Amino acid sequence: MTEGTKRIGVLTSGGDCSGLNAAIRAVVSSATTKGWEVYGIHNATDGLIVRPLDYQKLTMADFEFPFATLGGTMLGTNNSGNPHKVTHWDGTTEEVTDEELLARFKAGVEELGLSALIVIGGDGSMAIVSKYCKAAGISMIGIPKTIDNDAPGTDMAIGFATARSVVTEALDKLDTTASSHHRVMIAEAMGRGAGHLALESAIAGFADVALIPEIPYRYEKVVERLKLAFAEGRKHALVVIAEGIKKPDGEYSYSSNGRTFGGISAYFAEKLAKDGFNVRANVLGHTQRAGTPIAEDRILASGLAVRAIDLLAAGKNNRVVIHKDGHFADEDLDVILHLANSPVNPDGEMVKIAQSLGIYVGEK
Ligand code: F6P
Repeated sequence: MTEGTKRIGVLTSGGDCSGLNAAIRAVVSSATTKGWEVYGIHNATDGLIVRPLDYQKLTMADFEFPFATLGGTMLGTNNSGNPHKVTHWDGTTEEVTDEELLARFKAGVEELGLSALIVIGGDGSMAIVSKYCKAAGISMIGIPKTIDNDAPGTDMAIGFATARSVVTEALDKLDTTASSHHRVMIAEAMGRGAGHLALESAIAGFADVALIPEIPYRYEKVVERLKLAFAEGRKHALVVIAEGIKKPDGEYSYSSNGRTFGGISAYFAEKLAKDGFNVRANVLGHTQRAGTPIAEDRILASGLAVRAIDLLAAGKNNRVVIHKDGHFADEDLDVILHLANSPVNPDGEMVKIAQSLGIYVGEK
């Protein structure tokens, strides 16, 4: 490394989504124009904690193969939710204390000669990694990603736009088979406690019902709306349900791991069948986190990455790049971490648009 050359690291952390590779590419591309070196850290922070270190030097040659147009993350990630559980090269796991984590991270950073780390992840990952970076004495810039689009401080996070397109395409497909069989098709969308994905896809996919965690619903009103669709002369209907809504009895529906949401559409299908509908449930699942990132996500990833590199060039630290009111900007990480996640505003524009289209969105 010649004098004046900056060497930075980049990693992805938390659940994957489409657009992560585009963001990694943009980090490398933008850093390269400044004459910097970039090291991709594998499997979130694990790559700096395991021994030998798990990383790869990244140059534009790594993008000869069109990684940036693929979903997933070429660096690997981890969303175990337990920062103390470290996965080694051979797949074995180890529980590491906070003290040991910080010490190994610092030694890893020193071994690679990194002066900064770009963290592409959710606010939870950013909070954890910023603690490590402070202890290691290096700068950190966060780039928000989540298909749930509820990351604090930014209007858009990487992955949401593509996921919304995936759900919309699924609705287009469900629409034709629903029409052939005169059925009600239910699509279950991801989103944890946020309904952005379900609501916006419902608008784009011309659904009749969109149930989201932010707005309580009445089951009888769902039935009423579906009956209306048939009374209007249509022979099928589409329902989008966010995975994080409660059942009428107030309980959530969890997937087999008991940790993440899943299965609420099956509950609704059973109930609607008892009420006389010919109905099928479709859990769209992890397909929503995959696929070629659409242009919107690539542009977002590129703009956020360029801003992240510019911030480091200006000597800034502990910031998160965001997209707010149509512009790229940045905010202090500690300010971001004190903001609540941003779910759908029940009084917001999207809900009003859905209602005006006749979509039943719950009791608003
Ligand atoms: O937060 C992103 C997300 O895809 C949620 O929408 C979903 O509930 C969860 O992650 C699924 O996590 P996992 O990949 O652990 O099943």
